[in-house]
Amino acid sequence: MVKVTVCGAAGGIGQPLSLLLKINPNVDELSLFDVVNVPGVGADLSHINSDSATASFLPSSREDKTALAESLKGTDLVIIPAGVPRKPGMTRDDLFNINAGIIKGLAEGIAEHAPKAFVLVISNPVNSTVPIVAETLKQKGVYDPKRLFGVTTLDIVRANTFIAQAGKAKASQFNVNVIGGHSGETIVPLYSIGASKSYYEKLSAEEQKALIHRVQFGGDEVVQAKNGAGSATLSMAYAGYRLAESILKALTSSEEVVECTFLDLDSSIKGAAEAKKLVKGLDFFSLPVKLGKAGIEEVKYDVLNQVSDDEKKLLEVAIDQLSKNIEKGVAFAQK
Ligand code: NAD
Ligand code: LMR
Repeated sequence: MVKVTVCGAAGGIGQPLSLLLKINPNVDELSLFDVVNVPGVGADLSHINSDSATASFLPSSREDKTALAESLKGTDLVIIPAGVPRKPGMTRDDLFNINAGIIKGLAEGIAEHAPKAFVLVISNPVNSTVPIVAETLKQKGVYDPKRLFGVTTLDIVRANTFIAQAGKAKASQFNVNVIGGHSGETIVPLYSIGASKSYYEKLSAEEQKALIHRVQFGGDEVVQAKNGAGSATLSMAYAGYRLAESILKALTSSEEVVECTFLDLDSSIKGAAEAKKLVKGLDFFSLPVKLGKAGIEEVKYDVLNQVSDDEKKLLEVAIDQLSKNIEKGVAFAQK
């Protein structure tokens, strides 16, 4: 029996993500938590004739901790798209002041009521919110780095789509490794590796630069197009679902499943120590990982040895920015 909890289920990402989870045959119980509107979302989804059960949980007041506790009890996977999105002119880091507290509160609930769950963090700024969850779980003595995932999958989805457009190819043939973090220049697409290489090499230097920039700042395109009404929700729900589906596949089958995720490069994870050395000792970084029943089973750090000279330069910038984002998250959680 697999139970999945979505925290922030009534939001722009939460609703379509919950819809996709509702129709996944590997999900037996779908638990929806939000601080507004969630009974309606739950009632609506519950009419879908998939085999999973749906339940929604809304706190009765700011002090009510029971709804979160009930939503998390016995859950295997917690997905967190709770928090505020960007408006035009804002950076993801501008969301820190509001979202850091929301994430910390949810992580405390997870530590208490679902300490063994896999936790997928969507809320921005991911480069800082993931360290906040790690630090909070550590403080509560229940931290297992193999079970914590920063969701960067939208960057991979965009990288695939944009190279397909540039190369007049089908997007489905690409699975570009996008490593680093999830904001601006911390996002590093490795087009020089795998199926994208031959398409990428056909582009002029200027086109290559524009393509990298588009992946790094793809979020801004959506924020501007939505013009004050939020950021990516539908493509994000798709991307978050892709990672969740891969984790569920790894949990319920013996298939080899690899996805990129922003993870803690803790030495208890195979390949993490080697990866850490290659990224100047950063504690968190997004890399392809092999998923298994325990969560993150192995970091596929070898991509770091295969990067082109141009990608090396991008990584230098990413590492520098990431270290500050990570420190900010850790400092907040330790306050
Ligand atoms: P939204 O405002 O539409 O929805 C957020 C939901 O979170 C709301 O329903 C709100 O009530 C809920 N919420 C607020 N505080 C909560 C709490 N304490 N517990 C539970 N729920 C709570 O926003 P959205 O568009 O769904 O975006 C959500 C977050 O995801 C933002 O921070 C956004 O920047 C981020 N995001 C990340 C990625 C990524 O690639 N990782 C992509 C897109 C958006
Ligand atoms: C994205 O990449 O679309 C998200 O991180 C949302 C944002 O603020 O851009």
